[in-house]
Amino acid sequence: MSGVKKEEAMTGVNGSSKTAVMRGSAEGNGMDAEAHVTAERFSVFYHNREAVRQVSLAIPARGVTAIIGPSGCGKSTFLRAINRMNDLVPGCRVSGRLVFDKEDIYGPRIDVVALRRRVGMVFQKPNPFPKTVFDNVAYGPRLCGLTGRAQLEEIVERSLKSAALFDEVKDRLGQNAIGLSGGQQQRLCIARALAVDPEILLMDEPTSALDPRATSRIEDLIAELRGKYTIIIVTHNMQQAARVSDRTAFLYEGNLIEFGPTKQLFTKPRESQTEDYITGRFG
Ligand SMILES: Nc1ncnc2c1ncn2[C@@H]1O[C@H](COP(=O)(O)OP(=O)(O)OP(=O)(O)O)[C@@H](O)[C@H]1O
Ligand SMILES: [Mg+2]
Repeated sequence: MSGVKKEEAMTGVNGSSKTAVMRGSAEGNGMDAEAHVTAERFSVFYHNREAVRQVSLAIPARGVTAIIGPSGCGKSTFLRAINRMNDLVPGCRVSGRLVFDKEDIYGPRIDVVALRRRVGMVFQKPNPFPKTVFDNVAYGPRLCGLTGRAQLEEIVERSLKSAALFDEVKDRLGQNAIGLSGGQQQRLCIARALAVDPEILLMDEPTSALDPRATSRIEDLIAELRGKYTIIIVTHNMQQAARVSDRTAFLYEGNLIEFGPTKQLFTKPRESQTEDYITGRFG
């Protein structure tokens, strides 16, 4: 871990406080050999504006990490940085390091297409392609060069089952995905992301456009997927963060204020700003 002392990266704060949220893996908070994504003084700028400010944290492999914080604090910016979705934004640049599986995501050796296959993303608004259910899920595998019908059928079925959607759509695989309900569309987008066998699933407010029943299905699904994938979810809903995540990061004005086990962060926050936010005093 170059450029920043290990202990600093482990605190999960911008060097301002040594609250050492992350001392080893004992509390399930993750700075150990299993760290899957590590930010080291990582910043994201839009032109000269620093939207994510020298964030240092280590997200362990598997399990669910929630990112919370008021609107505009940099949650989506940080999430999108992990699969380089910000690359297309003019004037956007980064500093510091963001490491995935020991490789700097912004280093010269990274293959962005391969990165995005390993780091899938699900957005706030379900965005199925105007294609059949089957073709939506087969899209990624086909891009990767798969053409065999039997193999594609197997992947589509497995992915739809993983996304808890197969039973609802197995008789309409040939119909346009736009005809599915919003909650089904979102699970389809999750199936589409899973079809290329990613290691990380980024979810940016995946249930904010859904009704409570569809939300609950997605939350159940996250619980099912948590052992297999590293899930990083941005949510405005603190009850949701408390329900689905193992660890929570609280961002405020681009700064990582606190990162730790979800239960502890919501019941005994270490920082007064976290307490103010979770008790609804601002944001
Ligand atoms: N494409 C962009 N160009 C310029 N500035 C941007 C761009 N995207 C985001 N920003 C700015 O960066 C800051 C962080 O935005 P971001 O979308 O990451 O916040 P957020 O925490 O996800 O907010 P919300 O909860 O409202 O989705 C904001 O000040 C925002 O205006
Ligand atoms: Mg956002």
